[in-house]
Amino acid sequence: MADEKVINNVAAPVYDDEALAAEYQAKRQKQIEEDFKKPIDPDCVLEVRHLRKCFPIKKTVTGKVTKELVAVDDVSFKLKAGETLGIVGESGCGKTTAGRAILKLHQPTGGQIIFDGKDITNYKPKQMREIRKQMQIIFQDPYSSLPPRDTVGGILSEPVEVHKIVPKDQVKDYVLDLMDKCGLRDYYFERYPHEFSGGQRQRICIARALSVNPKLVICDEPVSALDVSIQAQIINLLKKLQREMNLAYVFISHDLSVVKFISDKILVMYLGAVMEFGTKEDIFTNPMHPYTKALFSAVPNPDPTTKMDRIKLEGDIPSPANPPKGCRFHTRCPYAKEVCKHITPDYKEYEPGHFAACHLLEKQD
Ligand SMILES: Nc1ncnc2c1ncn2[C@@H]1O[C@H](COP(=O)(O)OP(=O)(O)OP(=O)(O)O)[C@@H](O)[C@H]1O
Ligand code: SF4
Ligand SMILES: [Mg+2]
Repeated sequence: MADEKVINNVAAPVYDDEALAAEYQAKRQKQIEEDFKKPIDPDCVLEVRHLRKCFPIKKTVTGKVTKELVAVDDVSFKLKAGETLGIVGESGCGKTTAGRAILKLHQPTGGQIIFDGKDITNYKPKQMREIRKQMQIIFQDPYSSLPPRDTVGGILSEPVEVHKIVPKDQVKDYVLDLMDKCGLRDYYFERYPHEFSGGQRQRICIARALSVNPKLVICDEPVSALDVSIQAQIINLLKKLQREMNLAYVFISHDLSVVKFISDKILVMYLGAVMEFGTKEDIFTNPMHPYTKALFSAVPNPDPTTKMDRIKLEGDIPSPANPPKGCRFHTRCPYAKEVCKHITPDYKEYEPGHFAACHLLEKQD
C-alpha cells in the first residue's frame, strides 16, 4: 500500500495517491456490484444503495463535460413504513440533492433506488408518473411553494382529482377531512395562501403532500423557515400523521434537536459522503465518527449522564468540486494522521446497524 522512506532516521510511509485512489475505487466497485445483486428487502418502503449524483460544472464548447461536482457520493440506507430517517450535515453536504435524487427529481448518476419493492432507478418519466403520488416532498419555504392565485381548497383538490384518489363528487369532503387532520379550519377552503402565517402555510403544504396517500415523504428542512414556537406544532403534526398513515419520512435538517426528536435512524453526511449511520440512540449516545462528535458538540447536552468528547469544528468546508483526498474530513479533523490524507477509510458496520468511515475505528477492529 505504502512504501517507506527514511527522514531524519525515521521510516515514514510514502503514499502513491493515484494508485491508492484506484485501489479504493476498485474495492468500492466490487462492493457495489455485490450489493446490487442482493435481494430486495420486502420489509422496506425505500432502499437506497450506493446513490451517487454528479453535476457537470465545466464543459467544452462541444458540450463534453470536463469537470463534475460529486454532490452525493455513495449513500446507502433502508427505511420501513412508519420510520423516519434523519439526514444531517453542514450546508452543501448534499442533503437536498440526495432527497431529490431519491425522488428522481434529479436522475441519479449511479446507485439503486428501490421503492415499494421495485427498482425505480431507471424508470422513465411516464413510469415515474404512476408512482410519483406515492413519493412526496415538503420544502423548507412554505411561502414560495404554494401557488398564490389558487384557494386552499383548489390547491388541495387538484392532486386528488388528477390522481383520482376519490370519485369526483367526494373530493370536497375528502379535502375537508384532510384539512381537519392537518389542523386547518373548514373556512380556509375558500381562502388564499397569502392570508396565512408561515406555520399555517406549511400545514397546507403538508396537507397537499398527503392528499394523494403517499408511502414516503421527503421533508427538506420543513420547519427551518418557521418561528421556534411554531416548529414544535408542525413537528408534532408530522408525527401524528405518520402514526395515522404509517408514513416513511426522510427528514432533512440542520437542527439536531429537531432531528433527535423525530428520527428513528440518522445519517450524517459530509461533502456528499456518509460519515456515520445508525439508530438515533447510536448516533446521539454513542457517536463514533469525529465529524458526528464535532457536529453534536455544538448542541447543548441536557443529559449529564451521557459523556461525549467535545470537538470544536474549525475551518471552512472544502469545495465539493475539489474534495480532499483520502478521508474528506481530514482538513478539519483534530485526530487526522498522515494516513487520513491519502487513504479513504472504509465505511463499515462496527456495531449491528451502526456504520462509520474512520481510520481511528479500524484500529479497534
Ligand atoms: N443543479 C446543480 N448544479 C450544480 N451543483 C449543484 C446543483 N445542485 C446542488 N449543487 C451543489 O451540490 C452540493 C450539494 O448541494 P445541496 O443543495 O444538496 O446541499 P445541502 O446539504 O442541501 O445544503 P443546505 O443545507 O444549504 O440546503 C453543493 O455544493 C451545491 O452547490
Ligand atoms: S479518518 Fe482520520 S481524518 Fe477522517 S475522521 Fe477519522 S481520524 Fe479524522
Ligand atoms: Mg438543502
